[in-house]
Parts: sequence; C-alpha cells; structure tokens
Amino acid sequence: MTRNILIVAGDGIGPEVMGEVERVIGWYNDNRGFDAKIENELVGGCCYDAHGVAVTDATVEKARRADAVMLGAVGGPKWDNVPYEGRPEAGLLRLRKDLELFANLRPALCFAALADASSLKREIVEGLDIMIVRELTGGVYFGEPKEITDLGNGERRGVDTQVYTTSEIRRIAEVAFDLAKKRGNRVMSVEKRNVMKSGVLWYEEVIKLHKEKFSDVKLEHMLADNCAMQLVRNPKQFDVIVTDNLFGDVLSDIASMLTGSLGMLPSASLGARDANGKACAMYEPVHGSAPDIAGTGAANPIASILSFAMALRYTFELGADADLLEKAVDTVLANGLRTGDIMQPGMKKVGTKEMGDAILAALAKLNG
Ligand code: IPM
Ligand code: MG
Repeated sequence: MTRNILIVAGDGIGPEVMGEVERVIGWYNDNRGFDAKIENELVGGCCYDAHGVAVTDATVEKARRADAVMLGAVGGPKWDNVPYEGRPEAGLLRLRKDLELFANLRPALCFAALADASSLKREIVEGLDIMIVRELTGGVYFGEPKEITDLGNGERRGVDTQVYTTSEIRRIAEVAFDLAKKRGNRVMSVEKRNVMKSGVLWYEEVIKLHKEKFSDVKLEHMLADNCAMQLVRNPKQFDVIVTDNLFGDVLSDIASMLTGSLGMLPSASLGARDANGKACAMYEPVHGSAPDIAGTGAANPIASILSFAMALRYTFELGADADLLEKAVDTVLANGLRTGDIMQPGMKKVGTKEMGDAILAALAKLNG
C-alpha cells in the first residue's frame, strides 16, 4: 500500500526545514517499511512568482487526493505589495478552506531538556502538555462581507465578519471532546460571550453537545482574554483548549513560547472522514517563513519533523512510529544539541542540516 505525500515547502525557511522532513520520510521508507511516495509542489510567494496565484487549482486537487500534505511556510517581505488575492497566505488559506480542514490540532509540549529555554520560569512550563484545538475554516478568517469600502467623504470602512453556525461549532467541539478522552479528559472552551453573539452561540452549543454525548468529560469555559493571561500565569491548568479560528491563532502563538520556541511547535489540520474513511490532512509547523534567517541553514527543523510525527499518528495511524520520532527528538535535545532559536549556555549550537543528521542518527540507534 503506497502512501502519497505531497510536500509544499513554500517560502523562506520552508524548503530548508522540509528538506529535513524528506530525509526523515526516506528513513521511514528504508527502515520501517513506510512505503511513501513524495511529490513536491509550490505554494505561497514562490507560486505567485511562477504562476501569478498563491496556489494553483492543480495543486489543490493533488492535495485533496494525497494521503497527507506537508507544508513548510509561506510569505515574506518580497511579496508585501502583491494584490491581496495573490498574497502568499492566500494559498495556505485556500488549501485549508477547499480541503475543509476544519480541525487544527496544536499541541504545546515542553521537552524536559528545554524547560530553561522558555521565557517563563522552569516550574511554570516543566512537564507542560496541552492541546489547542483551533477551528480553522470559519469565523472571521472567511466570513462575508469582508471588504474595504469607500464612504465617499474621505472616509473608508474595513469590515470582517465573525460568523459561526451550530454545525461548525459542534464538529470542532466533538474533535476536542474525543481528544480529551485520550488525554486528561478535560476541555476548556474559550470564546468572548461577554461581547460577541457568536461567542454566546459557541458557549451554548458546546454545553448542549456536552450534555448529549460527552457528559463524562469535564467541561469548563473561559473568556479568551483571561485564557491568554492564564496561559502565561499557570499553563499546566489546561488539558484541551477548544476555540475559534482567530482566538486559536493568537492563543497558539502564546502557547508556543511556553515550549521554548516557535520553532518547536507542530500542527495537524484535519478534515472529516468521507464514506471510504479517507480524511484530508495537512501538517505544518506553527512558525512562519522567517525571512531574516532564510537561506542561512540556521532554521530549526524540529517543528516540521514533529509535524510529520503527527502525520504518522493521525493520518497513517502508526502510533509506535510517531512515538519513535518524538523520542528521537527528545534524545537529541537531551544530548545538548540546539539550533539558534533554542540555544542555551553550555549547549552545542547546530544548523538545520546537523539537527536533521542528529535526529536520523537517534532514530537509527533507537530502532536498534
Ligand atoms: C497560522 C498563521 C496563519 C494564520 C497565517 C500565515 C495566515 O499565523 O497558521 O497560525 O493566521 O492562520
Ligand atoms: Mg498564527
């Protein structure tokens, strides 16, 4: 059973970190009978340069048919002035929307060796293991109207629309409850019902679903601003956080710093299963294209490599293989290797490729 993986490395450090992911996939092919075939396509600014759009129809179709899509990063100052529809982010957003990848899983896990690399105190982050479940195809990212209009009197008006329906809220809450059952059995639902109607609806629908199907899971609610504060005050109080598209975007960046660096955080974006049991899926690091270090070989490939571990776990249902890869990363960090973003006194500073080499060596050793 050959597996099809589409790599869209994108811009900036994307191609560098995805190069390491390709090597890891190759290792799984050679050593664990993984049997994956890789194709590469363009997305983001590089695609705009080549085709005048941030992603082509053909690539979207290829992504839909692939078992898993691995995305690097999109964007950079080079494309600051391209038309809004052609901006690099539009390619990423179209893939999410067209493939209906509504469930974005963003685990924030503090590796023991990195407890001192966070900007927060060791005792706050040590042993941290939370999962942010972000709604990814609705809310203010896609709501209509979304426009800037000229009011004619020297004034302009910008409008974005925050909108959620019952079914959109229920399906993402369902993912969160299901995940919680396999973890700490607790869900924190986050909105701003004190100022937003969509927040009131979110709150009510989550409570309804909980009563109907998940009363054995502990459910609590928190306003989004308070959640941001609690994440830096006492992040270990959380197990699964479920929230909308925009709050999820902001809260997951905050959570990433608890783990030491944005360069450590993977993510999975999952669709619903079809009649044949196939679900579209895209895996990507939470970090961006880091144009300041692009091309220097200094980027941290760990977030992308851990994203592949998530693909092993969620798409290919190879839990033991996912565990092995996470263990290899853990080992390399425990051995003192660090890229610049997680560098600490007394550790050995390495580049993208050396970090990849070390993870491959750890995999070989652990595999025996
Ligand atoms: C993310 C990113 C994207 C988002 C950008 C690049 C459009 O910040 O995946 O968190 O806002 O969703
Ligand atoms: Mg973001």
